[in-house]
Amino acid sequence: MHFLSIEESNASTLGALIAHAAEMKAHRGENTDLPLAGQTWAIIFTKASTRTRVSFEVGIRELGGNVMFLSKNDIQLGRGEPIKDTARVLGRMVHGAVIRTFAQQDVVDFATYSGIPTINALTDEEHPCQIMADLLTIREKLGTWTGKKIAFIGDGDNNMSRSWMWAAKHLGFEFVVAAPKSCLPPKSFMDRLAAPNVSLTTDPAVAAKDANVINTDVWLSMGQEDQSEKEALFSDFQVNAALLKNCAPGHVILHCLPAYRGKEITECVLEEHADTIFQQAENRLHAQKAILARITQ
Ligand code: CP
Ligand code: NVA
Repeated sequence: MHFLSIEESNASTLGALIAHAAEMKAHRGENTDLPLAGQTWAIIFTKASTRTRVSFEVGIRELGGNVMFLSKNDIQLGRGEPIKDTARVLGRMVHGAVIRTFAQQDVVDFATYSGIPTINALTDEEHPCQIMADLLTIREKLGTWTGKKIAFIGDGDNNMSRSWMWAAKHLGFEFVVAAPKSCLPPKSFMDRLAAPNVSLTTDPAVAAKDANVINTDVWLSMGQEDQSEKEALFSDFQVNAALLKNCAPGHVILHCLPAYRGKEITECVLEEHADTIFQQAENRLHAQKAILARITQ
C-alpha cells in the first residue's frame, strides 16, 4: 500500500489515520507495537527538509525499523539516473521509501517500479503527510473539523492548498482559498475537485470572516525562490492582526513551516499562536507513524 496523495484518499482512511495518530501520541514510548521491526526504509529527498525528515527518521525508529537518508546529491539520481531504475534497485533492498521531490509522477513511478510501500513526503502537487498533522491539530484544538470554516491564505495553487482542498472534499468542511488571481487554482483543477464546499476568492477578508482556522504557507514554494515577481503579488495576503479581527472566536492559526516572518505571517501573529503552530509541527511525528503503520499492514 502507498500514501501518495490526499486526492486518492477518502474520508474513512483519513479519519482512521487521525484516530490512530492520536492514540500513538497518547501512548508514545510504550513501544508495544513495532510494525517495522526487521525493516529498513529509505528516505530519498531532492528538496530541503527539517520537520519531515526528522519526524520520519524518528518515527521509523520508534516503530522498530532502520532508516537511511539519501539526499539526491549523494546518489546517482542526482546525476540523472532515472527514478524507475533507482526504484527497481531500492525495491530489491529496502522495505519502504519516503520521497520528497518535484514531480508527483516521480513518486508514482517510484511506487510502481519499486513495488514497496511508498510515501509522498512533498511534491509540487501535494503535501499529504502535512495535512494529516494539520487535521490532528484541529481535532486537538477544536474537537472536530465538522462544521468548521477553514481558510487558506497565500499561494492557492501550491501543494498545501491543493492537499487541503482534497481533504475538504473528502471530509466536507467549508474551505475557502484566498489568493491573488493568478495564484488561484485553475478551472481544470476545480472541475476535477468538484467540491461545492470549496470556494475561491481574491479577498483575504472574505476568507478570514468567521473562520475557525486560518492556514498559511510560504508565498514561494521550494523551487520557486527566484520568482520575485510572483512574491510581489502577495502584499495584501499577509496573516496579520488586522486580518484576524473578524475570524470566529477561538480561531486557530496553522502554518506548516518554515515561516517567513514579515511576509506571509507577522512575527506577532506567529508568536501569539506559537503553541499551536509548534504542536502542529510535533504532530508530524505522530501522523507519520500512523501512516507508516497503515501502509505496512
Ligand atoms: N512542513 C514541512 O514539511 O517542513 P520541512 O520542509 O522542514 O520538512
Ligand atoms: N509549499 C511549501 C511547503 C513547505 C513545507 C513548499 O513546497 O516549499
